[in-house]
Parts: sequence; structure tokens; C-alpha cells
Amino acid sequence: MSDESYQSLSPAPSMPGVRVAVLGAGKMGGILLQAFLKNNLLASEQIFATVQHPERAQALSAQFGVEVTTDNLEAARQADVILLGVKPIQVPGLVEEIRPALTPGKMLLSFAASVKTRSIEDAAGCDLAVVRAMPNTPAMLAAGITALCAGRFVSPEQMAVAQRIFQTVGRTVVVDEKHMDAVTGLSGSGPAFLYIIIEALAEAGVNVGLPRDVATLLAAQTTLGSARMVLETGYHPALLKDAVTTPAGCTVDGILELEEGGLRVTLIKAVKRATQRARELANG
Ligand SMILES: NC(=O)c1ccc[n+]([C@@H]2O[C@H](COP(=O)([O-])OP(=O)(O)OC[C@H]3O[C@@H](n4cnc5c(N)ncnc54)[C@H](OP(=O)(O)O)[C@@H]3O)[C@@H](O)[C@H]2O)c1
Repeated sequence: MSDESYQSLSPAPSMPGVRVAVLGAGKMGGILLQAFLKNNLLASEQIFATVQHPERAQALSAQFGVEVTTDNLEAARQADVILLGVKPIQVPGLVEEIRPALTPGKMLLSFAASVKTRSIEDAAGCDLAVVRAMPNTPAMLAAGITALCAGRFVSPEQMAVAQRIFQTVGRTVVVDEKHMDAVTGLSGSGPAFLYIIIEALAEAGVNVGLPRDVATLLAAQTTLGSARMVLETGYHPALLKDAVTTPAGCTVDGILELEEGGLRVTLIKAVKRATQRARELANG
């Protein structure tokens, strides 16, 4: 089959006519680019991306078959929805750089931690739609969660487009902007906290005699299954915990150790500290 006939058989993109630019297509931006194509949200000619280094632009372009350059202004001119994926401290400068391309009807969709919609609106210098998003790394497997909040000039239709974009990498939830740093501390940093828990459970398995690969499998699948139980039954985690905890059984002995070791309080403190730090990131 020729390339042409193959293309004519590919299904039409589910967001036809919308052009999207990802300015700062690094780890998270790259995950999104891949997801747009894999989910057929956009055709490759609807996508533009930029990075800082020309050699990375070339490599990305070859990898995804989309236009990748180092020219932010030109990419922003081409797009209706402009995703901002640079480091938080770089966001205001980047928005000022693309200001000439920011015409009414366009939308800025920032996934930089800590940067407020207000500061992006101010840098844009006009009444532009700005949505702030906080995805997390399980996005790589379309198992992420992205919290989104709207700036002052976002229509419900634009918010729906922003959600549709992030639904390619998992679930979405809309929150008030005052909660975004807390989201960063919980679900943005959360994968790292959970990897430590999985690693510790696997280490424990090794300690009680299991081969390491079996222990890691048991720990990871148990974490996945427990998360699904919370999400899919809708039961409170405490109720699900009680169902595992038979009177005078072994689980309750384990729980006593967890409480004595302060796991619960430590996790609460970890999220609080990460939330505090998230508040500071936009200032470097
Ligand atoms: N990683 C996460 O878990 C995660 C989760 C949620 C949100 N975020 C947010 O996502 C943003 C990016 O994080 P990341 O982990 O993806 O970082 P990253 O991999 O370092 O990506 C940053 C990208 O920005 C590019 N860049 C730097 N300066 C630029 C410029 N002036 N113009 C255009 N592109 C430029 C870099 O280009 P080169 O590749 O050429 O260096 C790189 O591709 C951050 O604001 C972060 O807060 C990350």
C-alpha cells in the first residue's frame, strides 16, 4: 500500500481545523505531542512545536513527523491553541516574545507549575483566554491526571478544548486556581512519593524472602489494584482498608507498625512541603 493510500485510510482527526503549538516540547510536551498523534486528536500538519536547541528540534521533527523549530513567534502565529511547556521562570518571557501573535480567539494553555493565569494574561497584554494545567508523568501511559483552571477570559467552549487536549493523556479535573499549587504537591509530585512506597514494599518483600522481581510485581500491581478499587467502587479508602483487616489477623499488626512509623503523617507533611515549594517555583 502506498503512503498516500495509507493516509487516505487514516481516520479524520477528532479536532479538525484546530492548530496547536507546543512551545517547549521537553519531557511533558513530548508526551503530549505523542498522545495527540496516537489518539488521532490532531493530524501531524495541525501540530507545531518548539524547543531551545536546533539539534533537538531536528530529532523531534524526525521522531514525530511534525514541524519542530526554535522559532516561538512563528509557531505561535500558526496556532489557535498555544501550549506553554517551558520551565516556570521562563513563561513570562516566552509570552512576551510571542505577544505579536496573540490575536483574539487564540488560547494560551500553560502546564508550567506555579505560574498564575493572571501573570500570563498580564504578559500577553490583552484579554486573552489563558488556561493553566497541571498534568503528571503517568500521562506517558495515558494514565495521568491533569487539573485545569480557567483564567478570566476563557469561554466554556475553550475550556472544553483544553480538557479534550489533556484527556489524551488520562483523566482531567477542573479546579479553582487557588487549588493549583496543592494539586502540584499532590498529583504532580505524587508519582515520586508512590514510587518510594512501591520500592519500600518491594524491599520488604525481599526482606521476607521473595525474589526481587516477584516482590516488585506484587507491590506495583497491589498499588494499581488498590487505586482502581478506590476509583471504581467509589468507597472511602478507610472502608476498603477495613475489608482487608480481619480481627486479630495479620493486616492489623502491619497497620499498627505503619501508624507507629508515622507513614500517614509523613505523607501529609510531604504533600504540604511540595505544595509550599510549588508556590515559589515561578520566582525561580
Ligand atoms: N515533568 C513533569 O512531571 C511535569 C509535570 C507537570 C508539569 N510540568 C511542567 O512542564 C514544564 C516543562 O517540564 P519538563 O519536565 O517537560 O522539562 P524539560 O524536559 O526540561 O522541557 C523544557 C523544554 O523547554 C525547551 N525550551 C527551553 N527554553 C526554550 C525557549 N526559549 N523556547 C522554546 N523552548 C524552550 C527545552 O528545549 P531543549 O529540549 O532544546 O532543551 C525543553 O524541550 C515545566 O514548567 C514544569 O513545571 C512538568
